[in-house]
Amino acid sequence: MPESGHQPDPTFSEAERDAVYRCIHSRRDVRGQFLPDSIDDAVLARILAAAHHAPSVGFMQPWDFIVVRSPEVKKNVHAAFAKAHAEAAQMFEGDRRDTYQNLKLEGILDSPVNICVTCDRSRTGPVVIGRTHLPEMDLFSAVCAVQNLWLAARAENVGVGWVSIVHRDELRDALGIPAHIHPVAYLCLGRVSHFFERPELESAGWLPRMKLAEVTWFDRWQNRQGDEPLLGEL
Ligand SMILES: Cc1cc2nc3c(=O)[nH]c(=O)nc-3n(C[C@H](O)[C@H](O)[C@H](O)COP(=O)(O)O)c2cc1C
Repeated sequence: MPESGHQPDPTFSEAERDAVYRCIHSRRDVRGQFLPDSIDDAVLARILAAAHHAPSVGFMQPWDFIVVRSPEVKKNVHAAFAKAHAEAAQMFEGDRRDTYQNLKLEGILDSPVNICVTCDRSRTGPVVIGRTHLPEMDLFSAVCAVQNLWLAARAENVGVGWVSIVHRDELRDALGIPAHIHPVAYLCLGRVSHFFERPELESAGWLPRMKLAEVTWFDRWQNRQGDEPLLGEL
């Protein structure tokens, strides 16, 4: 008998391991492939539960999830996006601006469900285990919830797209979020016609995927270890 409190079945089988990696590698940011089909409540509940089981600094669980289905609310968020998107276009020069303007960067109105993940930075009081020296750890925790949500959704065959081109206060206004709550992510969720094999920004020639060996160092910043056989061609 395992000692009380231990996981009864701690080992992943090869098939389970492979399923986790498949989920990670086939997750995509979805913008333009949403179907109008609704997401079952049971599926949505599992996805939210996965988000809620993310790690958090000092176990403060600083997140809230606002599930948005109202066309009116979505319309207001979309208007805020459109304004910021037009401003953003002016920040790029020449061809880059043309390419930017031709990218689809949100699916707010096309997706049946939007979810805003927020961070309550004062949730468990001013002193939090693990956040005593790095105050942004609560925000990082909320981002962990986003990633859990994104991966769980992929495993449910639900697409997710993150929309971050928006003024924070306009998002607050559209969703009635009080000033002390930090909106972390605005996500569009829905069934999809297909998932692309590669990131859309990669396919569009915006940026390539870097090699793992380009971003991995050993023992000290920018220290390589010869040929990096560990990383191979990844
Ligand atoms: C913090 C964050 C913010 C993002 N904001 C946007 C956004 O506003 N619009 C968009 O189309 N994609 C957004 N993305 C998606 C990225 O463009 C996408 O993750 C990246 O190109 C890699 O593609 P993949 O997610 O399909 O692997 C965001 C992703 C992250 C992690």
